[in-house]
Amino acid sequence: MGTAPGLGVVAGSAHPELARAVAAQLGVDPVPTEVERFPDGELHVTVGPVRGADVYVVQPTGPPVNEHLVELLLLLDACRRAGASRVTAVVPYFGYARHDRTSRPGEPLALRVAADALVASGASRLVVVDPHPRSFEAASPVPVEVVSAVGLLVDALGDPGPGRHVVVAPDLGAVRLAEHVAAALGVPAAAVAKRRVSGTLVRAEDLLGDVRGRDAVIVDDMIATGGTLEAAARLVRAHGGRANPVVAATHGLFTGPAAARLGTLAPTRLVVTDTLAPPPYGPPAEVRSVAPLLARAMARLHDASTP
Ligand code: R5P
Repeated sequence: MGTAPGLGVVAGSAHPELARAVAAQLGVDPVPTEVERFPDGELHVTVGPVRGADVYVVQPTGPPVNEHLVELLLLLDACRRAGASRVTAVVPYFGYARHDRTSRPGEPLALRVAADALVASGASRLVVVDPHPRSFEAASPVPVEVVSAVGLLVDALGDPGPGRHVVVAPDLGAVRLAEHVAAALGVPAAAVAKRRVSGTLVRAEDLLGDVRGRDAVIVDDMIATGGTLEAAARLVRAHGGRANPVVAATHGLFTGPAAARLGTLAPTRLVVTDTLAPPPYGPPAEVRSVAPLLARAMARLHDASTP
């Protein structure tokens, strides 16, 4: 992509490999950055020279979400205080994005709290990849560049191969995604209506569409504990679908029982992107990189701001 003069990439500790890959695409070296943890748990960060630069701090706020979020806040503030001309938070996976509404009195709007905190710490824009709510931009007090990794997933799925396939949305929130992928693959779509019982347990209550005798391609924006997938796959089988689905999602968090659940589910393929660093005990997955997409978005924003 070539060099981008005046552009700085700061890598947080959540996923330095992704930040380095993005910087390489942009033809710049990451700004030297140090993150230390004190014995009491406080973080201390230092960023190298960024005076006058258009700085992009790359930090997905995946698990441990609060640690990575606070580190990102400190990095943004450090860049601002070091004289960056503009600071953008590049948050490929945005923790708390699922808390985009309150469902009962007494709850916070956690997505808004997180976005406000980034802005208060110096971010004048956000770059995110496939954020959970379609309304993400409305919840942000500053402009948001939304990058879609769905094309990457579709390319990875390619020709679904022999057999009769059906793309399945494992909950109603994923219906648009499933319809999009189904249209790209030229196969029908189906959807599961789910109810979340707890952070790790969901119930798949109804299946809309015909899956009989078909191989399911289950698509979602994220896989956290794998409960949504597991419940959807079980319902697909109960409705006559074939075992061992193909699974694709943008964000592979793979927390708690995810690896065990995916082990039992034994998908024929598990495709995710690298918006998050692979967790140490995650399931084996095919990983497609969002680095070129992020680099293109950042180059666009940088060019638009350069006189
Ligand atoms: C929720 O609506 C999301 O799109 C995912 O379906 C969900 O967050 C996945 O979580 P888990 O893997 O823990 O069921």
